[in-house]
Amino acid sequence: MSKKITIAIDGPAASGKSTTARLLAKKLGYLYIDTGAMYRAATLAVLRAAVPVDDAGAVEECVAQNHIHLELIGDTQHTFLNEEDVSERIRTPEINRIISIIASYSGVRVQMVQQQRALSRSGGVVMDGRDIGSVVLPDADLKVFMVASIEARARRRLKELEEAQVSISLEEVRREIENRDRIDSTRTHAPLVKAKDARELDTSALSIEQQVDIIYGWAQELI
Ligand code: CDP
Repeated sequence: MSKKITIAIDGPAASGKSTTARLLAKKLGYLYIDTGAMYRAATLAVLRAAVPVDDAGAVEECVAQNHIHLELIGDTQHTFLNEEDVSERIRTPEINRIISIIASYSGVRVQMVQQQRALSRSGGVVMDGRDIGSVVLPDADLKVFMVASIEARARRRLKELEEAQVSISLEEVRREIENRDRIDSTRTHAPLVKAKDARELDTSALSIEQQVDIIYGWAQELI
């Protein structure tokens, strides 16, 4: 019988992690865990409660009072804030503007990381985020750090937003991505870093299929 491994995929904003991780999990018959979606739902809760974003204590308390969880419906992962399916509502420019501040608070991270580790306990998991290989799953069997040029990332994210009927310019998308990367990389708690034992994959000139195939090949070497 083949071994069920744990795969951690990290990287900067819009580097293609989520799409790749989802398709890879499907191909392997594994569970996909989108940790960014959890921080996005936490940010939505903070926005709705109108908590001042720079008040770490109030933000942490607000997040603790809300139940954020991921649920597999059919073969699609949905994100819930309490009883509400917020899967689509969490991918807006409004959330992108403040999410990196919310995600920088250790009290918020502790709550999310606890759940993420519990979800991956039985193996057979592909998890993507910023701190998966470094903090959440330091013993993951395969760690991938995905990168891409800022131009490629901004173009891809603009396309996704346009498909979701969000009106925004390429320049705004680029600024938002650069801003999030700066905050995510320089925060004190669990910053975005390439784990020492991670394999780097530059996806600037790759198609989604190529990205998935490369990581699938790496996974097969271990299974
Ligand atoms: O898809 P994209 O790369 O734009 O973002 P995401 O993966 O949904 O993550 C959104 C934000 O959540 C990031 O910019 C981080 O601030 C935060 N995040 C984090 O701090 N740790 C994670 N494991 C995942 C996301």
